Amino acid sequence: MASSSLFHLCVFVMCLVTITASSASLSPNYYDYTCPKALPTIKRVVEAAVQQERRMGASLLRLHFHDCFVNGCDASILLDATSNIDSEKNALPNANSARGFKVIDQIKYEVDKACGAPVVSCADILAVAARDSVVALGGPKWNVQLGRRDSTTANRTLADNDIPSPFMDLPALISTFQKQGLNTKDLVALSGGHTIGFAQCFTFRERIYNETNIDSSFASQRQATCPINGGNSNLSPLDPTSAKFDVAYFTNLVKQKGLLHSDQALYSSGSTSELVKSYSKNADAFWKDFAKSMVKMGNIKPLTGKQGQIRLNCRKVN
Ligand code: HEM
Ligand SMILES: *[C@@H]1O[C@H](CO)[C@@H](O)[C@H](O)[C@H]1NC(C)=O
Ligand SMILES: *[C@@H]1O[C@H](CO)[C@@H](O)[C@H](O)[C@H]1NC(C)=O
Repeated sequence: MASSSLFHLCVFVMCLVTITASSASLSPNYYDYTCPKALPTIKRVVEAAVQQERRMGASLLRLHFHDCFVNGCDASILLDATSNIDSEKNALPNANSARGFKVIDQIKYEVDKACGAPVVSCADILAVAARDSVVALGGPKWNVQLGRRDSTTANRTLADNDIPSPFMDLPALISTFQKQGLNTKDLVALSGGHTIGFAQCFTFRERIYNETNIDSSFASQRQATCPINGGNSNLSPLDPTSAKFDVAYFTNLVKQKGLLHSDQALYSSGSTSELVKSYSKNADAFWKDFAKSMVKMGNIKPLTGKQGQIRLNCRKVN
């Protein structure tokens, strides 16, 4: 009798542990029953947006990164400013820089329509759109963990503090990633996100005019569209094949043709140089590690279970 109720108690406790564990962690099958059309719908809208403008794939990848580094992947970056919300869109790394918000709105509209109810979070939309963008530009595919919920707050100060700056050296880059539970390998692999997209002149001016660890013909080439004075928002590609997810970003670092100071820092100062060199020669290794680190980044502090909410409009708290 006693041992049988002890047995039942144990089963009950195990059950509880299982339930708690599953509500606190994400799963790739999260929407299989509540909205099987969610993933194909996101993919369709992302593909159309990328077909219209290849750069949009880069912009959507970056949005997920900038979301995850500020209090976890909770769509806080999507909230517009109100009297209660100090919008992360106004933080230095995002202002006049983060883009793709209208595509996210469109995805949210289409997904809610396809599901017949607002069951998919804006945070999950960002994670899936980032993956689908990488795939659309010829990069690796991975299973996106799902079940994140959306924040009811944003924090501009934290966005300013926690999103790495292009002027950082290797130790500072390592510590911004470490703060998020990401290691040096994650830093190098995820920096490979700069195989797509563009940067504005003011983010690399100092490098192309004043630094010495830069190929001189590359520097003058970039100076042609980024003058010493003015032209702050003129764009340059982050690598020569800015619409293709390849290893050109890494081969360029080896040639001292990294665009941002923070890019070149991965090859100029020791501990990460070997990894840069190996990715430059081995696309499979880069792809595999990038996918793995994207999943890891996507797991930063998600809101799950009853935490947060599923926003009706990604720009506003319900
Ligand atoms: C390691 C630290 C990083 C720094 C310092 C950094 C910095 C920057 C800067 C300054 C820009 C240009 C923004 C502008 O001029 O408006 C940029 C663009 C971009 N970043 Fe990063 N980034 C980092 C890591 C990452 C990571 C981890 C990813 C994604 C996995 C990523 C994806 C992108 C993409 C795709 C773009 C191009 C966006 C577009 O064209 O719209 N970056 N980054
Ligand atoms: C934002 O983050 C900063 C730095 O961690 C913290 O001091 C501040 O209290 C946060 N603000 C809000 C509104 O949560
Ligand atoms: C280059 O460095 C000099 C000396 O530190 C500084 O005065 C100048 O503003 C820098 N130029 C650029 C384009 O950053």
